Amino acid sequence: MSKIKTVYVCRECGAESPKWMGRCNQCGEWNTFSEVQIAAKAPSLTTSVTSETSSFVRPMRLSDVTVSDVSRATTANGELDRVLGGGIVPGSLILIGGEPGIGKSTLVLQMALNLPQKRVLYVSGEESASQIKIRAERIRSQGLDNCMVVSDTSLDRIDEHIKNAQPDVVVIDSIQTVQTERVESIPGSVAQIRECTNILMHIAKSNNLPIILIGHINKDGQLAGPKVLEHMVDVVLQFEGDRNHMYRILRGIKNRFGSTNEIGIFEMLGDGLREVTNPSEMLLSQFDQQLSGVAISAAMEGVRPFLIEIQALASTAAYGTPQRSATGFDVRRLNMLLAVLEKRAGFKLAMKDVFLNVAGGLRVVDTAVDLAVAASILSSNTDITITQGICMAGEIGLSGEIRPVTRIEQRVSEAAKLGFQHIIIPKYSRSVSFSKSGIEVHQVMRLDQAFRLLFA
Ligand code: TYD
Ligand code: MG
Repeated sequence: MSKIKTVYVCRECGAESPKWMGRCNQCGEWNTFSEVQIAAKAPSLTTSVTSETSSFVRPMRLSDVTVSDVSRATTANGELDRVLGGGIVPGSLILIGGEPGIGKSTLVLQMALNLPQKRVLYVSGEESASQIKIRAERIRSQGLDNCMVVSDTSLDRIDEHIKNAQPDVVVIDSIQTVQTERVESIPGSVAQIRECTNILMHIAKSNNLPIILIGHINKDGQLAGPKVLEHMVDVVLQFEGDRNHMYRILRGIKNRFGSTNEIGIFEMLGDGLREVTNPSEMLLSQFDQQLSGVAISAAMEGVRPFLIEIQALASTAAYGTPQRSATGFDVRRLNMLLAVLEKRAGFKLAMKDVFLNVAGGLRVVDTAVDLAVAASILSSNTDITITQGICMAGEIGLSGEIRPVTRIEQRVSEAAKLGFQHIIIPKYSRSVSFSKSGIEVHQVMRLDQAFRLLFA
């Protein structure tokens, strides 16, 4: 009989404490501790890594370490491969997080069905096998023979299924629904998620079997469950987007085998997710209409340039305190830009409601969109449209100066590729020759120079 030990674990950072605390002294969050019971000596699983712990391994020179050929399995999905860093690494534990209904199950099932010559075991704790079949038929994929499905939530049985089915890849949909008898708490609790991930990690490493976990996100946009979950897995990908928009972005949050700068863009269609290989197509919806309050920015997401439409609406405030709201853009940065426009460029915006929207349901963090944000607000405020065929990239400083941005050549060439005739960029950008790109480059130092070009 194993002894039961009780510890308290912080939901936010995973810190452990022998007694309950109101405030975590590691991350400072309040009321995040919950009781976790762990068997002091865990019963051994059928596929455990006992060999690893029992045999003595001597340290060796790094130069003497032999690398067994890491062959990444490509997923036959360019966008997913890009975010994974080239494909699935054997033995890796991959976590895909996202809000409910965003399309996680669709993405993973679509991948499972298209994996070339790989047997996939799809374990679902949320849907029955027939529901998965309906979904698979909806996305009209071929590989139904290579994909085994089982609807189960007991990790101890899942371990059994893995042993019997001998798959090349395992999918667990979702980590919040699985449970193990080793801990006595409900599925989805910190203790269960922690222990289940731990066991799955051992299964993955000892069998050199890649396991893909699907995880839910709570309302603060964090992966539900302890932060330790993110520490344990090799790759964390976040699937995001506005549920009312078709576009979805797969973002690398952590990747032990690749860059986290990469994003994958998908479009949710009636028959599954389509890869979006040309991200700029997202904005070209209203390309031929001349509207005030619309500016186009040459933005970067990770290492990919794309053009994005920024829409603003400035109107007289109906109530005493003007409202400022932004979708897809940081409201604090919007307030900062409004203050700069007011103080440094002399525009009276203090009594205006300002609404900002990034088209396509995208969230941009690139500061180079500042210039387009300022331009769209001004365009809406004055009701003057921005000259067509012009786009821009530039960060705005507190004194109204236009500051340099990264990867300017890529932005310019993306704009040129999409047929823009003019681009406004910061004066002090790294000097490069844009002559062959067939686009006129205007370099500006201050806001007013940019505005003269835009509203000429
Ligand atoms: P789902 O993959 O079930 O989301 P999650 O696993 O993240 O909760 O996707 C749910 C949504 O996607 C649902 O609202 C319907 C929509 N959808 C499509 O638009 N097209 C499709 O081909 C499929 C399978 C789903
Ligand atoms: Mg799902």
